[in-house]
Amino acid sequence: MPDEDVAPERVVASGADDVERAAEAALRPRRLAEFVGQRVVRDQLELVLHAAIGRGRAPDHLLLSGPPGLGKTTLAMIIAAELGTSVRVTSGPAIQHAGDLAAVLSSLEEGEVLFLDEIHRLARPAEELLYVAMEDFRVDVVVGKGPGANAIGLTLPPFTVVGATTRAGLLPAPLRDRFGFTGHLEFYDPDELRQVLVRSAGLLGVELEVAAAVEIAGRSRGTPRIANRLLRRVRDWAQVRGDGRLDLDAARAALEVYEVDVLGLDRLDRAVLGALCERFGGGPVGLTTLAVAVGEEPETVETVAEPFLVREGLMGRTPRGRVATPRAYEHLGLATPDAGQTLFD
Ligand SMILES: Nc1ncnc2c1ncn2[C@@H]1O[C@H](COP(=O)(O)OP(=O)(O)OP(=O)(O)O)[C@@H](O)[C@H]1O
Ligand SMILES: [Mg+2]
Repeated sequence: MPDEDVAPERVVASGADDVERAAEAALRPRRLAEFVGQRVVRDQLELVLHAAIGRGRAPDHLLLSGPPGLGKTTLAMIIAAELGTSVRVTSGPAIQHAGDLAAVLSSLEEGEVLFLDEIHRLARPAEELLYVAMEDFRVDVVVGKGPGANAIGLTLPPFTVVGATTRAGLLPAPLRDRFGFTGHLEFYDPDELRQVLVRSAGLLGVELEVAAAVEIAGRSRGTPRIANRLLRRVRDWAQVRGDGRLDLDAARAALEVYEVDVLGLDRLDRAVLGALCERFGGGPVGLTTLAVAVGEEPETVETVAEPFLVREGLMGRTPRGRVATPRAYEHLGLATPDAGQTLFD
């Protein structure tokens, strides 16, 4: 089962493909002071980093966790910038063998940051190598093969691992314990997303009216990545069908074309919610039945549509199946069914 929502054809997907990640790099805040929102994590990090700088030492290993698109990679780069050091980037899936990790570790320079993205996907042997490297700043490199093979212990200079994960719960406890600090990123509120949008518009060299920024922010699902993507779509609309200005009318018209509604629901989200309310009387209904009703795979409904519907309090998951909340009816402009009149009473 895919563990996150990376559907590039979906304008409100929280994940991103490689092309989009490249475009995102230009919009990344470079320093902590430029990073919008996440006041708690920013505060905590500032202390950790400045204390380490003051002592002239590499800080503890740092773990960043939270859903896709909230700024983990951005913060990892910022950490290196604040420390005035360089960053080496790799990821769990990129490390196939323990030897790959040993090679990276043994080439680290003093004080460098090693950014390990998707650290929960690291293979077990690499993980074990990492424990030792993080704790004792040592790596055992095996030289040769067969009976003549020799393990040579290499001492590593002090360095800092910055790990990122969307699934902190999947990290084995021994690995989690080797991080001196864990920052949990939260969804952004609309006002923070508005600030992200204004900043991005400036970098893209387009003029974004405040009302338009507010409108886009409200539909961005608490996620800067989605906000930036919607901004690009609004810019397209303004350029092709509007007069180039990113005002409220342009924002609304563009988001209507892309079928992103005022809560940030897209066509699939609304189809699922609509089927649940109108065809199944608000449930409870099983996932498979619901998926058939909207012509999708159960997996798609479960991983792509449901998490946000549940988070928004539009839908609930119960042991007997999916249920719609009163807010779902309200959002779809439907009358709430009378408690006494449902099929199951
Ligand atoms: N606090 C922020 N202020 C401004 N822009 C932000 C902020 N957080 C994220 N962004 C923007 O959102 C985009 C996605 O951020 P980033 O790549 O850091 O997310 P991520 O948490 O690493 O996601 P993933 O889990 O998919 O790797 C980037 O373009 C970044 O510029
Ligand atoms: Mg990332």
